Amino acid sequence: MALYSEKVMDHFRNPRNVGVIEDADGVGEVGNAKCGDIMKMYLKIDNDTITDVKFETFGCGSAIASSSMATELIKGKPVSEAMQLTNQAVAEALDGLPDYKMHCSVLAEEAIRSALKDYEKKKK
Ligand code: FES
Repeated sequence: MALYSEKVMDHFRNPRNVGVIEDADGVGEVGNAKCGDIMKMYLKIDNDTITDVKFETFGCGSAIASSSMATELIKGKPVSEAMQLTNQAVAEALDGLPDYKMHCSVLAEEAIRSALKDYEKKKK
């Protein structure tokens, strides 16, 4: 059996939503101290709906695929729904990740949550 699903390979090779949003409404950056990988998420939010999302990931293939899939999962969604996104949902949408690569999907969940918190903070 292949170590990585077709979907992981697809999102790794052709990541969606890579880049920066200059006038983002929320920005979140997280890292994993063990592997040293870093992920940054930018959100554009209108009327509590995520209208655009971009990411920059300095990390492994699973982290890139996870960020790409996570951005696809929250685009067009209300903030409240994006807040509920879990790393399991990201991994499932990718048709699974090897156990020892699950922490890469955690990074995507954390980066999105951190960007959403930044948005909430700025709103106040
Ligand atoms: Fe660090 Fe994948 S090995 S995020």
